[in-house]
Amino acid sequence: MQWYRRNRQRTAEVLAFVHADAFYERPIPLRHPFAFYEGHIPAFSFLTLNQRGLGEEPIDAALEQLFERGIDPGSADEARRHQRSDWPGRGAIADFAARCDARIERALQSAPIDDSRVPRLRRAQAAYTILEHEGMHQETLMYILHQLPYDRKQLRTSRHEDHAPPPAQMRAVAAGTATLGADRDGIAFGWDNEFERSKVEVPGFEIAAYPVTNAEWLRFVEQGGPVPHFWTKRNGEWHLRLQFEEISLPQSWPAYVTHRQAQAYAQFFGLRLPTEAQYHRAAFGSPDGRERAFPWGEELPSTRHGNFGFERFDPEPVDAHPAGASAWGVTDLIGNGWEWTATPFAPLPGFEPMASYPQYSADFFDGKHYVIKGASPVTPPELIRRSFRNWFYDDYPYMYAKFRCVTA
Ligand SMILES: [Fe+2]
Repeated sequence: MQWYRRNRQRTAEVLAFVHADAFYERPIPLRHPFAFYEGHIPAFSFLTLNQRGLGEEPIDAALEQLFERGIDPGSADEARRHQRSDWPGRGAIADFAARCDARIERALQSAPIDDSRVPRLRRAQAAYTILEHEGMHQETLMYILHQLPYDRKQLRTSRHEDHAPPPAQMRAVAAGTATLGADRDGIAFGWDNEFERSKVEVPGFEIAAYPVTNAEWLRFVEQGGPVPHFWTKRNGEWHLRLQFEEISLPQSWPAYVTHRQAQAYAQFFGLRLPTEAQYHRAAFGSPDGRERAFPWGEELPSTRHGNFGFERFDPEPVDAHPAGASAWGVTDLIGNGWEWTATPFAPLPGFEPMASYPQYSADFFDGKHYVIKGASPVTPPELIRRSFRNWFYDDYPYMYAKFRCVTA
């Protein structure tokens, strides 16, 4: 219940950045307008928990259907089908959302949301599903908001740190076991793609201690490499387009790039992107053979470990959080931008679509999406766990993803 209210509050704060006259705009063409998300999040929650989970009566079947699903940004056909100019007015959406909220809160408070006899309610699956679903949308809303021109949103100013980037260095990771995924009973909740737990033997390798910085990427650009989406050149100087302002390119921040760009960089320098198993090994493995819950150990994630959880809207220097380093001295693995892996998104052995959201992962096992791990500055802290897997198209330019290389 606390978590649900915290979510609703943050979603409202994110949507409050959007100027009233931009509420029906779609700054990313293959995404719905902001108005859709104001209705989608509570509609999805109501449908998943109250209607499908608990078998309750609808609130407004037409609006529930309208707001049920977003757009997969890779499907232009689907996006065209969703083109419409007759979205309900803002007041009507807010009213629908409030009715959903009331019913959801009542269910969270007093309905049998944890019922082992009902697959959708087993271990409170539907309740966790709606809570994490909303958290993920807060991040994707920030990506969409990022593409909205500065004069169409409420701006905030922040203090930005930058300094000379740390010297590039590789760290050795010994051969050993990486545990991907989790046991169904081992964690309170996981998405279907996190099961079953599987062990992978990983030969020894070397990995960069820090993600690739803007300073490093700039040298690549000077040798003909592609320019990242968030960079822009003004009067001969490179600038970075942040969520709320444009600043001169911070040298020590991670370069946010697409999978395709990251791969071009690795290839150019005779390196590779880490596989998902190598990421796990570098982040959670240790020389004594034990695996940790987090790179820094067992302590729950906090601001000293990395840049995540909406503490800031922008990146920080890649060496800002030495306390978050892994057992091998690899830093910035969680937070400050997701990390690209070389691994196409695919089910772990034993995968089963989840009862409360069967399309969640299964629709994306197409070989065109790659696994990203970690977190960005605007990833809610509840989504930070070892088995959590995120994925994106290899050329989707709007997200906050960085990368580091391993020896080929
Ligand atoms: Fe959604």
